[in-house]
Amino acid sequence: MSATTAGQWVNPLLDPSDRRLPRIAGPSGLVIFGVTGDLSRKKLMPAVYDLANRGLLPPGFSLVGFARRDWEHQDFAQVVHDAVREHARTPFREEVWRQLAEGMRFVPGEFDDDKAFKQLRETVDELDAARGTSGNFAFYLSVPPKFFPTVVRQLKRHGLSDASEGSWRRAVIEKPFGHDLASAEELNQVVHEVFAPDQVFRIDHYLGKETVQNILALRFANQMFEPIWNRSYVDHVQITMAEDIGIGGRAGYYDGIGAARDVIQNHLLQLLALTAMEEPAGFDAESLVAEKLKVLKAVKLPADLGAHSVRGQYAAGWQGGELVRGYLEEEGISSDSGTDTYAALKLEVDNRRWAGVPFYLRTGKRLGRRVTEIAVVFQRAPHSPFDTTDTQELGQNALVIRVQPDEGITVRFGSKVPGTSMEIRDVTMDFAYGESFTEESPEAYERLILDVLLGDANLFPRTEEVEESWKILDPVENYWDTHGRPEQYTAGTWGPKAADDMLARDGRNWRRP
Ligand code: BG6
Repeated sequence: MSATTAGQWVNPLLDPSDRRLPRIAGPSGLVIFGVTGDLSRKKLMPAVYDLANRGLLPPGFSLVGFARRDWEHQDFAQVVHDAVREHARTPFREEVWRQLAEGMRFVPGEFDDDKAFKQLRETVDELDAARGTSGNFAFYLSVPPKFFPTVVRQLKRHGLSDASEGSWRRAVIEKPFGHDLASAEELNQVVHEVFAPDQVFRIDHYLGKETVQNILALRFANQMFEPIWNRSYVDHVQITMAEDIGIGGRAGYYDGIGAARDVIQNHLLQLLALTAMEEPAGFDAESLVAEKLKVLKAVKLPADLGAHSVRGQYAAGWQGGELVRGYLEEEGISSDSGTDTYAALKLEVDNRRWAGVPFYLRTGKRLGRRVTEIAVVFQRAPHSPFDTTDTQELGQNALVIRVQPDEGITVRFGSKVPGTSMEIRDVTMDFAYGESFTEESPEAYERLILDVLLGDANLFPRTEEVEESWKILDPVENYWDTHGRPEQYTAGTWGPKAADDMLARDGRNWRRP
């Protein structure tokens, strides 16, 4: 095993220029703060196991949990075991588990507890000696943002943020990164007091999804889409992230945050940036960030936010044959909460490619079904030689990137209905991952954790992107704060009526995916 000076590990048995070879992490360990949280149990621990199971972690890989619990190492290992059994994507294999479990350690303590951080430092040193982690550690902050400053300063204070010669230290930061521009800037300042920009990996797990990475492949590895990917041919773009779930047990996190801050500020604006950006000079972090940033900076909000933004809150209703309660009846939510569980927004990307093309973004909990998609809807043909009665059922052409759950791409176009007349109707042409590939899609967190360990920053938003995204959302949130309450919508429907009205005013409709 050998490491390059840049901190990127290279397996000497593999030819690094062959991109088809599996990317395998070098000697390293991961420390998770907030190890008792939902994210850790449902996503991070299973992702670590799945990576190990796929042979993508080094033999001495070590996992350290840090939390305010009176646990021994084996209690922590048991928690990881249960999480893996319940949520891992790949089959459970005793030998993989045993090897992984040998590298598990637990450090009990509060975030401001010096004794605990001293113990963490000793644990890291012990793992270096016993398991060959070579001083390479990533610190995953899966904790509410109010704890970021304390944790990063403690890492600094106890010498954990500085790598020794030839090794690396990285910080992984979960969203939400602040709740507005000012708080995000403050957090950024604290994080950068301790970590250099290339040590910080901000998670937006949507970027770890195969279908999201495929947006760039679709656009820039092909010739047929890009010529029409602009204002001359595109009528509008709809980006939808609909969920059927409610807030579950996350009242403490969600209330006061709401749908727009929870997912528009990050996931949906990243999808917008990837859909609208120019071709990057290369597929490296610098080039990608540069192009995404240009889009975010070109985003223009409509002058009349009252007419072009909507927020809603779910009320009790029937979903999947079950009567579900409304947001205000959820445990931990006060009965007068004004938090949005639905948000829709019209934006423009004010540049030469997109001027005048509306981008409609919407998201919501307890909607009709779980679906995330980007629909690029094209203008109607400028002229039709057919009788209008022949084409009355014809919609606009559309290219729909189906992000989840039915991953793939659909193209909608008109086709002659078999028969003696020239009737034309919409049909679709579908690409489905499951049918075209035998390879399985890894979970987003598998990809992102592996990238952190490899030091590959392509799929992580930079500070500037986070701040630009808040600049877009802040005026909307401020407008909402001073203009009444969210409109109620019945659980299991497609959101508030105002959202339909918003598109109807523009002579358009939301898709019903
Ligand atoms: C998270 C949000 O970022 O994304 C959650 O905080 C949301 O509220 C989740 O449920 C959705 O992720 P996915 O991958 O299931 O679409």
